[in-house]
Amino acid sequence: MCGIVGYIGSGKQEKILVDMLKHLDYRGYDSAGIAVIKQNQQNSLTCKIDVTKTKGKLNSLEQLLKNSNKIPKNKFLVKDDFNTEELQKQIETINELNEADDVNSTCGIGHTRWATHGEATTQNAHPHLSNNNEWAIVHNGIIENFQELKEELINNKFTFKSKTDSEIVVNLLQLNTDQDNKLPTITPLIETCKKLKGSYALAALNKNFKNTLFLARKKSPLYVAKSKKTIVVASDPICFAGKTKEYYSLNDNEFCLCTGNKIEFYNLKNEVIEKTAEKLENLNQTKTKTSYKHFMQKEINEIPDVLKNIVKRYSTNNYLDILDKVFIKKFNKVVLIGCGTAYHAGLIGARYLQDLARIDASTSVASEFRYANPIIDNKTLVILVSQSGETADTIAVCEEANKKGCTTLALTNVEYSTLAKLAKITMPLCAGTEIAVASTKAYVAQVAVLYLIASKLSNELLNKNINFLENLQKLSDQIIIPTKQDFITLVDEISKKQTAFFIGRDYDYITCEEASLKLKEITYINSNAYPAGELKHGFLALIDESSYLFVIATKRDLLEKTLNGAYEAKARGANLIFASQFELENEVKKDFKHILQLPKVDENLAPLSSIVAFQVLAYLVCLKRKLNPDKPRNLAKSVTVE
Ligand code: G6P
Repeated sequence: MCGIVGYIGSGKQEKILVDMLKHLDYRGYDSAGIAVIKQNQQNSLTCKIDVTKTKGKLNSLEQLLKNSNKIPKNKFLVKDDFNTEELQKQIETINELNEADDVNSTCGIGHTRWATHGEATTQNAHPHLSNNNEWAIVHNGIIENFQELKEELINNKFTFKSKTDSEIVVNLLQLNTDQDNKLPTITPLIETCKKLKGSYALAALNKNFKNTLFLARKKSPLYVAKSKKTIVVASDPICFAGKTKEYYSLNDNEFCLCTGNKIEFYNLKNEVIEKTAEKLENLNQTKTKTSYKHFMQKEINEIPDVLKNIVKRYSTNNYLDILDKVFIKKFNKVVLIGCGTAYHAGLIGARYLQDLARIDASTSVASEFRYANPIIDNKTLVILVSQSGETADTIAVCEEANKKGCTTLALTNVEYSTLAKLAKITMPLCAGTEIAVASTKAYVAQVAVLYLIASKLSNELLNKNINFLENLQKLSDQIIIPTKQDFITLVDEISKKQTAFFIGRDYDYITCEEASLKLKEITYINSNAYPAGELKHGFLALIDESSYLFVIATKRDLLEKTLNGAYEAKARGANLIFASQFELENEVKKDFKHILQLPKVDENLAPLSSIVAFQVLAYLVCLKRKLNPDKPRNLAKSVTVE
C-alpha cells in the first residue's frame, strides 16, 4: 500500500505533486506529505529540503499547503473528482503561471500512506528526513529487518523522529553517502538497499543535487517516465496519463538515477542496464464520478456495461482460445487464488469449474496458501484473481507457482500490473478503473470471466454447447440496480444494528460471504456469513430477538433446505430478510420481515446478479451511518504489503 510520486521539472512542485498523489490515494489515506528542494533564503548558494506533511487524507495536506501559501489558495482546487485531461490542463496552466516565480524549486517527492509501522500520525507521515537533513525519502513496502538496522543506527548516534520502518532507510542513505562526492550517484541507495530485507519502492532526493531523484524497487511497484522537460515517478503509471506516451517499469533490485531530464537504470552490482519503454495504453479512463455522489455508487451502476464490455472484448479477442482440450488435459489440479473479494470470486470460479466442466478445483486465500506447503507442480493450473494485480500475497503465490513449473493464469483488471506481467497467461477483467475501496463491479467482472472460462472448458471437455457470451449479454440486460426507495425501511433498521448475519447454501453461501464483507467493510457493522447447514453447529447461540438474518436463496433445489435453517433462527427470535429470485407463497412470506426480490436469471448466473442488491444495501446503510463509502477506515484499495 502507500503511493509514492516524484517530479523533476519546472512549475509549482507542491501543486504538481499533490495532483499526482490524487491518483494514488486508493493506496492509502492515513497521511500525506511532500518534500521539495528549495533555495535557502539566507544563503542563495545552498538549498534545503522543505517537507510538508500531515495525518489524514490528501485534502488535509492540500489545505495545509494552501494555508502556508505553498499552493495558490483560490485557484485550481484539487477536486476529489477529476479526469486526466482536465488534470493535464490544470498542470500546464499552473506551470505557465508559476515558471517565472518558482525557478528555485526543481524536484520533489510525495507520499500517501497506509500505516504499517507506527500509527497514523503526522510524525509518522512520509517524507522522512535524514538526521543531517540532506536526504528525504518516501517508501512503499515493509522493511522486515528494521529493528535490527535501527539499533545499528542508534549505536552510530542516529536519532529517530518516527516509529516507522522507513526512517531507517533515509538514515542509512546518510550513512552511505560520501560527502566528497560532488556529483550525484546511485551508490548510496544501492548500498542502503543491500542491507534491507522486505519490500520497497523508494524515491529519495538530496538537497545538494537540485534536480535529481534516486529510485529503487523490490516487490513494490515503481514506474518512471520522461518528457522533454520533466521526469515523473509514481507507484502507478495512471499518474503519467496526459504527461507522457511511454514509461519504464522498474523490476526487483533495479535502481534509477534521474537527473535533469536524463534517466539511468542500474542493477544491484551498480552496472548501468538498458530498459525498454512500455506504451502508456488503456489509461484514458475517466476518473470522474459524473452525476454520482460516490465512486462506489457509480461503479455499481456500471455493472451492466461491464458485462457488455466483457462480451465485446472476449468475442473480438482470442483470450479463451488457449483453453482447449489439450491444454486442460495437461493438469491434474486447478487452484484458484485471491484475497478479499477476489477470493470470493475464486470460490465461485471453483464451483463453476466443478459444476460446468466437472473439473476438480479448489480455492485458497493467497496469504494462507503460500505458507501451507502446497503440493503444486507442472501439472497444476493456478488461476490468480486480482482486481489490481498488485496484491502482495497473490503476487507471491504467482512467483512461487512459476518457480514450481505450474501454469499461471492471471485474471486482472489492470493490464499493465505486476501480476499481469508475472503470470504465464493473462486475461483481462475489462471492468474499467475501480476507485472505491470496496470492490463491486470488479467482483462481478471476476465472476463473469470465471464463468466464461468454466463454460469454454465445459464445451471442450464435455462437448457441451454453452453460449456463454450470449448468456452474459442477456444477463447484462436483466441485472436490476435497486434504488433507495426499494430499501427504505430496511436501511433504517440495519443502520441501527451492531451485528448482522447472512445464511445461504452452495453458491448463495459464497454470495453471503461477499455480501457480508461489503456490509462490514463500509458500515463497520459486525456482519458474518454462515452456510445455512451450519446454523446448529454453534452460530445459533448468537441469535436472539435483536438479530437480523439475511437468507439468500437463488437455487430452486436448495430452497426448502435453506428455508428450514431460516425457520430455526426465527424460532429463536431472529428477524428474517429473504432474498431470492423465487416468489414465496403468501403464507410463507409472513415469516419474513423484509423481502428482497432478486432478478430472475439463469441459476448459473445468479451469483453475478444477486450480489448487486447487497452492494447497494451496504452503500445505503453506509450513507445512513454518515460514513464515506469510497474510503472506509483502516483499509486501502491495493494491498501491496503482506
Ligand atoms: C483489498 C481491497 C478489496 C480487494 C482485495 C484484493 O482488501 O479493499 O476490495 O478485494 O484487496 O485486491 P485485488 O486487487 O487483489 O483484487
